[in-house]
Amino acid sequence: MMKSGIKVFAPATVANVACGFDILGFALDKPGDEIIVRFSDTPNLRITRITGLKGMKLPYEVEKNTAGFAAQRLLDHLGESNRGIEMEIHKKMPFGSGLGSSAASAVAGVMAVNELLRRPLTKRELLPFAVLGEQVADNAYHADNVAPSLLGGMIFIRDNPTLDVHRIPVPNGLYAAVVYPHIKILTKDARSVLSDQVTLKQSITQSGNLGGLIIGLTTANLDLISRSLQDIIIEPQRAKLIHGFYEVKEAALQAGAMGCSISGAGPSIFTLCANSLIAENVGKAMQLVFNKNKIHNQLFISRINQEGAELC
Ligand code: HSE
Repeated sequence: MMKSGIKVFAPATVANVACGFDILGFALDKPGDEIIVRFSDTPNLRITRITGLKGMKLPYEVEKNTAGFAAQRLLDHLGESNRGIEMEIHKKMPFGSGLGSSAASAVAGVMAVNELLRRPLTKRELLPFAVLGEQVADNAYHADNVAPSLLGGMIFIRDNPTLDVHRIPVPNGLYAAVVYPHIKILTKDARSVLSDQVTLKQSITQSGNLGGLIIGLTTANLDLISRSLQDIIIEPQRAKLIHGFYEVKEAALQAGAMGCSISGAGPSIFTLCANSLIAENVGKAMQLVFNKNKIHNQLFISRINQEGAELC
């Protein structure tokens, strides 16, 4: 017998936001992933369907799948380890894109199961389970995609191990233009190119920018945001993975973006803009460069999504 289910949408996210490597991220309105769960008479959590992968593969084994792993950890925590639940994963966004695809799946997975069980935990309480799910994808414990996808907004993570997360207010009208060039970069590969050495001078500059960005966002000081939206540590190391990165960045800044950097581990490139009109112009200018270099790409224009994951 088919049982009625719960459907959850979890949005894409931009992690790092230039100067906040692993500790800052924001949610977009779209794209995102959808997960449907329903009770089943067969015991245990089972992934029964995965759609939208366009030739790529994701595991059906619960313990190897970000959404499945996260949901199973939640079920274990709730003393429901063997509860019969079927899960369908509908990928509405590419993975390896720098838009937090695995995080969105992990978030949608835990939120859907929590809703199915009549919401025993709050959204905030779901965060550790979703982060564990994302860890399956890249072997690192960081919430800069998961937290904004779950909670919405611009989220600062003071400390990842304890998930000390805080929402930062953003100026009205702030828009992101994000271009996804169809180059695949896995987060674990983009992390492996990073040096673990940072000089004192770099640390001072990056901390200054992060502080400036947070103050700029909180006080709606667009000039301060613009001056601060710079990454002098990670971007120079990863830019070489994205063909034409500096040309795209230059085009974005010329078109009026407040700043431009790599979204998460890349290859997507994000900008923040003072309004939607500027964001559209900036997005088109970035696309022109990729088009000229014959790299297929997609543009997403979005406000900062304040809702995060939701029932749909
Ligand atoms: N902070 C992470 C990184 C985000 O840049 O590697 C991608 O998961």
